[in-house]
This record gives sequence, C-alpha cells and structure tokens, in this order.
Amino acid sequence: MIQVLNNKTAYKIEMVFVMTENINWFPKHMKDSEDLLKKSLKAVDIVFEVLDARAPLSSKDMNIDRIIGQKARIVILNKCDLSSNDGNKQWVSFFNRGDTEVVLVNAVNGDGLKNITNLARKVITKAGIKNKSIRAMVVGIPNVGKSTLINCLAGKKKAKASNKPGVTRFKQWIDTKSQLELLDTPGILRPREDKDTVLNLAFIGTINDDVLDVGTLASDLIEKLVEIVPEELCARFKIDINDKTPLEILENIAAKRGCILKGGSIDYMRVSGIVLSEFRKGKLGKITLEYPGC
Ligand code: G4P
Repeated sequence: MIQVLNNKTAYKIEMVFVMTENINWFPKHMKDSEDLLKKSLKAVDIVFEVLDARAPLSSKDMNIDRIIGQKARIVILNKCDLSSNDGNKQWVSFFNRGDTEVVLVNAVNGDGLKNITNLARKVITKAGIKNKSIRAMVVGIPNVGKSTLINCLAGKKKAKASNKPGVTRFKQWIDTKSQLELLDTPGILRPREDKDTVLNLAFIGTINDDVLDVGTLASDLIEKLVEIVPEELCARFKIDINDKTPLEILENIAAKRGCILKGGSIDYMRVSGIVLSEFRKGKLGKITLEYPGC
C-alpha cells in the first residue's frame, strides 16, 4: 500500500542518503575526491561545471565554488532539451553574472557544444593563459551528464569515471581532436538538508529509485507538477485534477493506464514508475523544477 504524503517525506528521503551505497556521502571518500579535485586543478586551464538545467541549484555541488576558487570556468546547463525555455533564459542570466560564461547544452545531440572550444579559449585568454591545447576539468554531481558530454565532445564512447567509492578511476584524460583535452572526474553527491533540493534530485533521477519509496516519490512529483505545470499534467494523462489530492491523481492515472492488479487493486509500483519515467524523459513537456530567487 502506498504511503500517503506527510511531513516525514523529506526526512525519509534524507535518511536514504545515509543508508545507500549508491550515494557517496562517506566523509572519507568525499575528502579524498575533494583533495584529488584540488590537486588536479593545478593541471588544468579551465573547469567545465555541469549542472542539470531542470534544477541547476539543486544539482550544484555547493562546495565546488570554494574548491575551484578563481580558476577560469564555464557553467554548462546540460539537459536543456528537458527544461523550459523560460527557465533556461532565467538561469543563464542568473549564472552569467560577472565574467562567468554560461552555455545551454543538450549533450545527447551536441546542441550548444559546437563552439565550446572557442568559448574556453576566450575565457582562458582573459585569464592570461595562452596554451595552444586547452585542458579542461569536467565536474558535477552524478547523473548531470558529464560522461555524455565528454563522449559527445570526443566523438566516441570513452570509459566513465566511476561515482562509486573505492573504484574511482580519476585522472582520466580524453582528447577531443579540437585542441581541447578533458579531464573526467567522479561525481560527488553530498548529503543535502533542504527538502526541496532532496526532492528535486530524486525527481530528476540523481538518487537511485531502488533506494526510494517510488509511490511516495511519484505523489510528491504529482504535487509539484500540479503547482507548476497543471495543464501539461492533465494533457499527458488525460485526467481532471480539480480538487484531487496527489494520491487521487496517481490513482486516476493508474486507471487510465491500466495499472490494475488482479482483484482490482491499484498497481502503485507500476503507475509510479510510469509517472517518474515520463517526467524524466520529457514526455510531459520541457519542465524546470526551480527558478532563481524562488
Ligand atoms: P554522469 O556522467 O554525470 O553521471 O551522467 P551521464 O553522462 O551518465 O548521463 C546520465 C543520464 O542523462 C543518461 O541517461 C544520459 O543519456 C542522460 N543525458 C545526459 N545528457 C543529456 C541531455 O543533454 N539531454 C537528455 N535528454 N539526456 C541527457 P540514462 O538513461 O541514465 O542512460 P542512457 O541509457 O541514456 O545512456
């Protein structure tokens, strides 16, 4: 039976951070990775900080600014094919303050990456670096698309830096054939305290569903969608959401999609999987989960 939404949801998901081996919260591992990042910084000209355009702040490693310091950087808002145009615009101006260059990218088809070498050259030249070949370190939490981006720039599949503690293949240089060398780094996900951040990370699939109560998560997602994109929710599932709780909406979707078990009860696992998967694949439209200043 699905658990009904309550105030303990965030706490429960936060507990999952502590319980799972899928999430690298281990202080020793985080410290080791951080030390390696700092050491590797000396070997690169610029940092490519990759964020998920659907939730740029939730998917940002808040320690990265301290680690990177004044190093030249480009902020890459990846998965912009899944986030709203308005959200993309607002986040570009948010991160574009000062000298920081920001690019909207779809690492699957390469949109936004065509001029990345020229842009990186412009940024490092401003910082007084005149190397012929540019060395860039790609950083970001797990699942933001670092490997996809590197593969796209390199033009073929390269090995992926593991996000798992103990099996990290750090210091992996990848040549892109365009005077750009990339240093792949493992994604570190630190424990988060803010409920909305935790939920956003779960919605976009950064936290593995295997360690979550997907029924509760799907209800939480429906609650969020009712708030930000009610028309898209109704249109996708052909349902009426007026005066309904998230759980009732989930049950309506189950009925529409035939998620009914033998005996007539609702298959909560299946319908929850459908809602989460269709949101993540962009089937409800281009949706930004958080906006600057909100
Ligand atoms: P990571 O190295 O930062 O951990 O992320 P990774 O490249 O493994 O990407 C995580 C998932 O995000 C992959 O999907 C990948 O295809 C998808 N992805 C990356 N960039 C983009 C993008 O710009 N747009 C969209 N729509 N998706 C993107 P997956 O389902 O986990 O794996 P796969 O079966 O697609 O390879």
